[in-house]
Amino acid sequence: LARDRADPRLIAWNVLCAVERGAFADAELARPLRGESLDERDRGLATQLVYGTLAWQGLCDHVLGALGRPAARLDPEVRTLLRMALYQMTKLERIPEFAAVDTAVELAKRHKRGAAGLVNALLRAFLRSGKDLHLPAADGTAARLAVAGSHPRWLVERWISLLGAAETAALLDADNRPAPTVLRVNRRRADRDTAVAALAREPCAARACHYAADAIEIELRGAIDGLAAYRDGLVTAQGEASQLVGAMIPAAATRVLDTCAAPGGKATLIAERTDARVVAVDQARSGIVAVARQAARLGVAVAAIRADARVLPLRPRAYFDAVLVDAPCTGLGTLRQHPEIRWRRQPRDVARLAAIQAAILEAAAAHVDRNGVLVYATCTLLPEENEQRVADFLARNPDFDVDDPRPDLPVPARQLIGEDLFLRTWPHHHGLDGFFAARLRRR
Ligand SMILES: C[S@@+](CC[C@H](N)C(=O)[O-])C[C@H]1O[C@@H](n2cnc3c(N)ncnc32)[C@H](O)[C@@H]1O
Repeated sequence: LARDRADPRLIAWNVLCAVERGAFADAELARPLRGESLDERDRGLATQLVYGTLAWQGLCDHVLGALGRPAARLDPEVRTLLRMALYQMTKLERIPEFAAVDTAVELAKRHKRGAAGLVNALLRAFLRSGKDLHLPAADGTAARLAVAGSHPRWLVERWISLLGAAETAALLDADNRPAPTVLRVNRRRADRDTAVAALAREPCAARACHYAADAIEIELRGAIDGLAAYRDGLVTAQGEASQLVGAMIPAAATRVLDTCAAPGGKATLIAERTDARVVAVDQARSGIVAVARQAARLGVAVAAIRADARVLPLRPRAYFDAVLVDAPCTGLGTLRQHPEIRWRRQPRDVARLAAIQAAILEAAAAHVDRNGVLVYATCTLLPEENEQRVADFLARNPDFDVDDPRPDLPVPARQLIGEDLFLRTWPHHHGLDGFFAARLRRR
């Protein structure tokens, strides 16, 4: 497609096509939002079209199937354009439906000439049907929730078996709403009030969050590095749940190892809040570069090493007071922010990732000093990646016990710790990303 820098719909369409080819929406959208060509309103529209279309892709594809044009058989550029129009027609009340049809047909005419007739015919057929979504009949079933809540069927089946139908419906609904933009104040440079005041001068609406002590929610229109407070290292972007995991590293730690550190959200939090020497490991070369860049912007020292955490390149007697395993996982707790992940994950990924998680935990445990802690965290809520990993680990490592992290958490966050002493956050209960974390202590 051509790239008209000033048309938010064309920008959104281009981003959606890139996501079809495997890109991540947030990274792909950051580039056009960074430029000067879009005003605030158009930035908001492009963002909404990208995230909304990806979240509602399952419902849109279901409609395309009912119209006799299964999405899988359409050209990817046509498919994404149709999804974008159907998303607007079904979920965005403020955009008149005829306008959504006309702009999609216009975009096709200008950039995908042969497809304009098909786009026009399908979208008008949908309007003529009275926007019939052809929802599977029985309420509360996986088939219906998967379509109406736009998530893959296998995942909805998993959630229903774990949570029941009503709670699953609430979770899917929360997953389909945009995540707030949350920043973390760099304690080395400012306190929360000072940072809120600095953001107010940008101008950028900002308010303190409830659970995490240094978290600020902002209304961001555009790219984060457009904010001087960000460029100056006063704040960094990090969700509240992620900040709480970082807070589970004891403040008194003097040697900390982060085995899966990129892009450095938790490693830099730890370096800001403790006097520890922080060693950050990650397998990805680009990830190590990102950790180093974040640390430099925030003015903290983090030693970043590229390595596979299953075979840590440390001396056998290198011991740390605290080791964080923020493991690679299915990421199913972060669907608000990464709506496309749900369409990429397959049931077999769960077992594959669980094996990696187990191997990293074992390797990490060897470097936890006596009386030191091992924090295991994920941004998913499937038991195979969470509770089961911890139970297996404890069965093989009897010198570790579950440890209560509440003394290190801000008071409002202590209610997020269950009777089993694990942290669990849910989009539909707490308005946070879905995270799990356990703190284990070596005897
Ligand atoms: C959940 S992310 C970490 C997020 C990070 N802790 C933060 O707060 O910004 C998981 C990371 O694990 C890394 N990873 C995956 N497999 C790994 C392995 N075998 N060894 C080390 N790092 C790995 C990925 O590159 C990814 O950066």
